[in-house]
Amino acid sequence: MFDFSSVIERRNTGSFKWDKYRGRDILPFWVADMDFAVAPAIVEAVHKRLDHPVFGYATAPAGLAPAIVDALQREFEWAIDPDWLVWLPGVVPGLAASCRAFGKDGDEAIVFPPIYHHFLSVVQPARKRLVTVPLLEEQGRWSLDFDALEKAVTPRSRLLLLCSPHNPVGKVFSAKELARLCMFAADHDMIIVSDEIHCSLVLDRSRQHIPTAKVCPQYSDRIVTLMSPSKTFNLAGMNCSFAVIDNPQLRKRFIRALQGVVPMVPATSYVAAEAAYRDGWEWQQALLEVLRENHALLKNAIETMPGIEMTKLEATYLAWLDVRALGIERPQQYFEKHGLGFSCGLEFGPEGKGFVRFNFACPRVLLEEGIARLRRAVEKAA
Ligand SMILES: Cc1ncc(COP(=O)(O)O)c(C=O)c1O
Repeated sequence: MFDFSSVIERRNTGSFKWDKYRGRDILPFWVADMDFAVAPAIVEAVHKRLDHPVFGYATAPAGLAPAIVDALQREFEWAIDPDWLVWLPGVVPGLAASCRAFGKDGDEAIVFPPIYHHFLSVVQPARKRLVTVPLLEEQGRWSLDFDALEKAVTPRSRLLLLCSPHNPVGKVFSAKELARLCMFAADHDMIIVSDEIHCSLVLDRSRQHIPTAKVCPQYSDRIVTLMSPSKTFNLAGMNCSFAVIDNPQLRKRFIRALQGVVPMVPATSYVAAEAAYRDGWEWQQALLEVLRENHALLKNAIETMPGIEMTKLEATYLAWLDVRALGIERPQQYFEKHGLGFSCGLEFGPEGKGFVRFNFACPRVLLEEGIARLRRAVEKAA
């Protein structure tokens, strides 16, 4: 019913992902957008909006908040009030605004690397100190290191920046881990900023995403949740995201931190988001099947390649590959020479040394070509 197999030419269309390797025979498997057409309902809704030729400052369409409230209830049994929503042109501006809004200059924000690179870049410009508590790695599985967290915390620790599900290690956090983190935040009077942009991309059927703010309702007043249709519905370039903040004081401070810095959401982006949350779920279910198939294809292939290990992936379309055993000095450059454009592990902090991230959200033929190139590159390195 939906076409996830045709290759859509994205070269010379102003694509950040494809333009990086313009004129070179390198397939881009790096930045997190998908090479799939969006749900037809989204295209239709945006077309319709374009028939109205004025594009002034926009407000959210009346149907957007109810569609989000319904989706969060249905997907996660999370009941939110539409008044808790704050519109944003991106999740990263929401992370940055949180760092500016809460705490005093010199207070600390704790992050858990390896981590999506903007978690590392938004803290210092907000005059906060970045404290890293690396995830623990045991046999290809990563988890929060609560002992290290206890040791790292100080009276100046004010923010915990969580990525759930986690990019790049693809982990879905359990209710137990999230509850422990919430209790830790409450004990130390900290605010949790929970980036849940990948919440509707759980591939492992035995796992379930749980919003951090839902786990311990008694602590939800210290949680800022950031969400977006951008990953789930492939709308990364559309710039419509939102925060969910139930505590009115935090919400006020967060909104104040946005003012004069962060632009409003464009009219067409609101329309796309509304169509996605209202009419995009059948497409999203079909997408999950395709991503599961791609994941299995990649995983099975990698299992036959000596010197390369894939972290157990529960969510996201981003495979975190451990290539340390290949003994390559600069893996990203090495794979580029073999026609593969991956994200460099070091982008996610020093803990990512010896890793690359492989975005497998593309038509199967492209993935098959990528896997063939990977096999040749690995054989050459061995
Ligand atoms: C965890 C995480 N947060 C935020 C973003 C980007 O969000 P936005 O483009 O809405 O600023 C990404 C994109 O890959 C991501 O993986």
